[in-house]
Amino acid sequence: MAQNVTLRQDNIDEVLSELTLKEKATLVVGAGYKSMLAGMFGFKVPVPGAAGMTRAIPRLGIPAIVLSDGPAGVRIEPKRKGSKDTFYCTGFPIGSLLSSTWNMEMVEMVGSAIGNEALEYGVDVLLAPGMNIHRNPLCGRNFEYFSEDPLLSGKTAAAYVRGVQSQGVGTSVKHFAANNQETNRFWNDSRVDEAVLREIYLSNFEIAVREAKPWTVMASYNRLNGVHTQENKWLLTDVLRDEWGFDGLVMTDWTGQRNTAHQIEAGCDLMEPGEKAQINELVKKVRKGELKESDLDICVRRVMELIVKTPTFKGYRPSLSPDLKVHAEIAREAAEEGIVLLKNEKGTLPFAKGKSVALFGVGSYQLLAGGTGSGHVHRPYIVNLDEGLEKEGIHVLDFLASQYKDHINKNQPKKTFMSGMLGSPGSTEMPLPQETALLASEKADAAIITISRQAGEGGDRHLEGDFLLTDLEKGIIADVCNAFHARGKKVVVVLNIGGVIETASWKDLPDVILLAWQPGQEGGNALARIISGAVNPSGKLPVTFPVDYFDIPSSKNFPYDYHGKGSMTAGKDKDKDVRNVGYTEYEEGFDVGYRYFGKPGSPKASYEFGFGLSYTAFEVSAPDKNNCVTVTNTGKVPGKEVVIIMEGVHAGFGKTHLLQPGESETLQLNSVIKTN
Ligand code: BGC
Repeated sequence: MAQNVTLRQDNIDEVLSELTLKEKATLVVGAGYKSMLAGMFGFKVPVPGAAGMTRAIPRLGIPAIVLSDGPAGVRIEPKRKGSKDTFYCTGFPIGSLLSSTWNMEMVEMVGSAIGNEALEYGVDVLLAPGMNIHRNPLCGRNFEYFSEDPLLSGKTAAAYVRGVQSQGVGTSVKHFAANNQETNRFWNDSRVDEAVLREIYLSNFEIAVREAKPWTVMASYNRLNGVHTQENKWLLTDVLRDEWGFDGLVMTDWTGQRNTAHQIEAGCDLMEPGEKAQINELVKKVRKGELKESDLDICVRRVMELIVKTPTFKGYRPSLSPDLKVHAEIAREAAEEGIVLLKNEKGTLPFAKGKSVALFGVGSYQLLAGGTGSGHVHRPYIVNLDEGLEKEGIHVLDFLASQYKDHINKNQPKKTFMSGMLGSPGSTEMPLPQETALLASEKADAAIITISRQAGEGGDRHLEGDFLLTDLEKGIIADVCNAFHARGKKVVVVLNIGGVIETASWKDLPDVILLAWQPGQEGGNALARIISGAVNPSGKLPVTFPVDYFDIPSSKNFPYDYHGKGSMTAGKDKDKDVRNVGYTEYEEGFDVGYRYFGKPGSPKASYEFGFGLSYTAFEVSAPDKNNCVTVTNTGKVPGKEVVIIMEGVHAGFGKTHLLQPGESETLQLNSVIKTN
């Protein structure tokens, strides 16, 4: 053994030759749940609340690096034992809102703010972005993901990755691949025809990998055509590395329930969260000749190649105080660009300052900033809609606000260890006596009703009371519309949701529908600034809103009616023959989202992919031979416009800067990336 060899960027092979077999196995197996559970058990770790770490080999100068969730901000514990300081991270808007901006500079800016917080809190790799395709509106994690369209998904992911990595921190694009449902997510087999797989479910990852070079990719939990993605050599080596040229590291999603040796052979380099038994298993298999040490070496080298890039390896001393004020502004601006105006009858919005509004729906006073699960961010605050409106000079009806706040206080969901860690569903909706709606319609100039939905990792959404409005919600919309319309007053519905809901049956009632998604901690400010006209909405739908759930081709092959216990591990392997639980046939093929709804003879959508209104009007020229279009603001107020062409030689999209009335801009549409 050479004396005093320690890891440097340029001596990875030398260090590799110094490592014992046990040390090699140690490097490819993460350090367990220690950092995630640090707050609970008082483990001493660099970043409490981070999802995982690698294991250090101090004698060779190899440090442990820290991996932390995303995607809507850095996910770490906001408080630490023995410290009065707080470690909150900015709660940015969810993925589906970021893609609704269609503004890749904006997404990149969000990415760099998140990357900066990761850096300043001591995180080396952010486990984000999530970029699975919105195959079906009921997937519980759609809020983390970007779109039903691979081009928009891939470009948005690439912008996010560029932003985070500009700070010298890594990303992990996830969950690779075809991880489109949460039910039985550890075991479900996604059965997808290869051509469909490549065009719909892989090409977004390909764009992100080729254009932004993420430091890592996270292999998903599910099987793909019979083989777990984490053990899938075709996916992780033949396609990802050999075809797309990916030269980073592949890590597992958080489970040790696979064949570790098969994962190494497939090109899965790092086992997270990691269990000691996996180290022993690897050592044993190499010794018995069941795993080639040279295959292990390939993964070990990639782990070291990752480590030498990280802030921890470079000795960066995190300040523990990123500029949360500046980042909050970025969160607000992103929300303002991604909120989508779906309906604005007779120019109802914007509302003039000085107007009074009656705010209905618990979500108006308890906005859902983001979803639950590992995508939940411990943010310092959430600005509710009532607070945002007051700041904009729009007055909120007091007596109604008091009733709702009282209801919320009395109906807080029980705080549990899990809800503290993974986020809470919000309070149940308040029943609304008709007299209250009538009284409010006398006192206020207009009404706003917030409809909220929460979802997250570990379960898919349901039809009743989730995709569909509840009877209570339908009643509130009808009663408020009747009461206010009888007095010639307007009604706005705000959708504070993480995924698509049914809109067709009630959308004729209100005058305005504003899709806020889950807009992050600054949501109330962003919404209020759109309602007041301080900001002209410019978001467009990244996903189709169908009239009927069963209009969606994948509805035939999705567990929409699965109400089994713990849908995350619903059937385990014993249910491997149960349709949509053990396996899911992607029978709809290419018919995902607008690719289906745009076809002749297909049902009409309630709101089409790419739809979104503005307070001004635009004229757009046909694309020229360089794929450029000229956009002119022909209306009366400044605004931004998105141009989207999804088919043919001109496929691509672009967004203008803020155009003054009469002003034009020539946009170069980004185009589909060509493979090979
Ligand atoms: C999730 C991943 C996450 C990981 C670490 C898993 O359960 O699927 O998205 O990055 O946990 O928290």
